[in-house]
Amino acid sequence: MKLSGKHIVIGITGGIAAYKSANLVRLFVKSGAEVQVIMTPHAKEFITPVTLSTLSGKPVISEFFTANTGEWHSHVDLGLWADAFIVAPATASTIAKMATGVADNMLVTSYLSTRAKVFVAPAMDMDMMMHPSTVRNIETLRSDGCTIIEPAEGELASHLIGKGRMEEPDAIFRRVATFLIENEKYNLNPEINGCDGKAAAQLKNKRVLITAGPTRERLDPVRFISNYSTGKMGVAIADEAARRGADVTLVLGPCNASPTESGVMVVNVESARDMLDVCERYFPSTDIAIMCAAVADYTVAHPSEVKIKRENNEIPSFEFVKNPDIAAILGKRKRDNQYMVGFALETDHENVNAIEKLNRKNLNMIVMNSLRDEGAGFGTDTNKVTIHTSDGRSKEFGLKDKKAVASDIWDSILENTNG
Ligand code: C5P
Repeated sequence: MKLSGKHIVIGITGGIAAYKSANLVRLFVKSGAEVQVIMTPHAKEFITPVTLSTLSGKPVISEFFTANTGEWHSHVDLGLWADAFIVAPATASTIAKMATGVADNMLVTSYLSTRAKVFVAPAMDMDMMMHPSTVRNIETLRSDGCTIIEPAEGELASHLIGKGRMEEPDAIFRRVATFLIENEKYNLNPEINGCDGKAAAQLKNKRVLITAGPTRERLDPVRFISNYSTGKMGVAIADEAARRGADVTLVLGPCNASPTESGVMVVNVESARDMLDVCERYFPSTDIAIMCAAVADYTVAHPSEVKIKRENNEIPSFEFVKNPDIAAILGKRKRDNQYMVGFALETDHENVNAIEKLNRKNLNMIVMNSLRDEGAGFGTDTNKVTIHTSDGRSKEFGLKDKKAVASDIWDSILENTNG
């Protein structure tokens, strides 16, 4: 992947995985990018600035002032210079400082002033990783717009086996490079993305609420029922809304998809009930709501408090009860100045069923996709949709990448809401 002309800040903190960051610097330099390394004071105990300045071809920055000359390093300049800002490895302590704004070193100070997309690759002992304080801080970073590059499981510096190993440099590189390349493609190629450079103004000051992914309904503390939704379509819609300038809240069921745009605030939920609770909080201040989640229709009336044992002779049986229909509940409360979009994943009588849902749930628009169409629906990177609106109009689209489908959906919403 070629990244000529791109500016990358790599922040290195004091963890054993700091040695891997040398390779991360090398990968970006090899791709043609300019790399500026910022180290926290503790990071220098794990890898020397000489190694990193040799690889990056630039002096490493660590202090606010150069000791012998008194020269001041501007954290604001660095933050603005960056096209991507990576913290790898990110220790529990740096994550906590970033989450709370404790700007007592050059790295956190630059982080607070950057406008670039921020990627954080945590690395720490598994117990630190699971501590509620770390979990909370990571969640804060996520809702502040950082992309968290989840650590892998494996043997840790403590010799314990668990989650906490920093993701490998080539995976971090690919993730950041893909983001930069796609962003550029977006800005430079209006045909692929379906909108032009003025895109960022289209949804300015609009509050958008999106549900996406599956829900999980618990049977017992270790088991659940769910569905095949991967969240990709909803995440693409959220990213597209953010690119067009909206203030986006994405209520996301358990899945691997995550937005790349920093303007998307993610609220992670598990069950349909949780999803409804979050949506009810945000809906009153929402301008446009898009219900893309594959919400489980039923939940277990009385999930077991303890793990159901296979050794029990009795075959367990569960009573199911209906889950709330989030789209229908919000549809009833919808004000005239709110616009609501639903999805209908159908297997038969597709358009008739979709229009029936549009009316029953009091939506303004419904996006129908059929499981009979190859490349449409769950799990795929493509989709094929027909959009129906409450004024009786319909438009059929061809098979496209989900990002392009997201763009078509936003074009249609804008057409319908701008008169
Ligand atoms: O009725 P059906 O599940 O096919 O309706 C699909 C639409 O309703 C989607 O927009 C989906 O997100 C939404 N929905 C919901 N809550 C449910 C079931 C569906 O928000 N419990």
